[in-house]
Amino acid sequence: MSAVAPEGAGVPDRVAADRLAPGDAARDPRRLLGEVLVAPSILSADFGALRAQVREVLAAGARLIHVDVMDGHFVPPITVGPLVVEALAGEVRAVGAMLEAHLMIERPERHVADFVEAGADSITFHAEATAHIAYTAALLRERGACVGVAINPATPPGVLSEVAGAVEVALCMTVSPGWGGQPFIEHSLEKLPRLRAVVGERVAIEVDGGIDPDTAPRCRAAGASLFVAGTAIFATSDPGESYAALVRSLAERPGEADSR
Ligand code: DX5
Ligand code: ZN
Repeated sequence: MSAVAPEGAGVPDRVAADRLAPGDAARDPRRLLGEVLVAPSILSADFGALRAQVREVLAAGARLIHVDVMDGHFVPPITVGPLVVEALAGEVRAVGAMLEAHLMIERPERHVADFVEAGADSITFHAEATAHIAYTAALLRERGACVGVAINPATPPGVLSEVAGAVEVALCMTVSPGWGGQPFIEHSLEKLPRLRAVVGERVAIEVDGGIDPDTAPRCRAAGASLFVAGTAIFATSDPGESYAALVRSLAERPGEADSR
């Protein structure tokens, strides 16, 4: 890493227009992140048929594809790196969707540039994984990517108080990071309003872990607008329909589905 501060650090609204690929004109990742979106996490997909699985959820309407990156240090498992982002980014962009990389890796400041270069539109790194949250956010901003910061279940929302103005997404882990298929941590529902109070109305709150048609609407009622789901989508026989079921669950008020 260079000892010199990145060009553009501290100039939060600069966008690197030259990153846009042909056909990207209609895509606006920042605007998309302001919508209510279900983000299929490929962690639970069939990696032997990854492109086809992503195509399936894109065809069902998904506009935010979530790629979980794990380094064997910040979390025990090792998953994928920029090569997989690169392999999927074209597919995702072609339909006007966006790709977010969720970095569960130590010292993310060493790697974020590679993920932007590979085609990630938004990159979320963990507050617990670096002493340099503001610097890492500035690196991403300089390269034209949207910025997300994630917090683990035991991390208080207050760690984001000084950087809320520099991020688009605050990701509240609703399970301990590292594995798909864990049960949703109910305490998250009390934490989300506290996170909202810290980051303000402009930042999108994302939830990740144990999200399904029961937990998603409850998280929405507590303030989340981006819903990551792996098991509930890809560990089913019809990922496209399972994606659609999650979207429908968000259109209902909590409890409404049960009362029918
Ligand atoms: C877990 C990952 C999640 C994971 C969620 O550390 O960050 O994105 O895919 O999986 P489910 O939806 O199975 O809880
Ligand atoms: Zn994730």
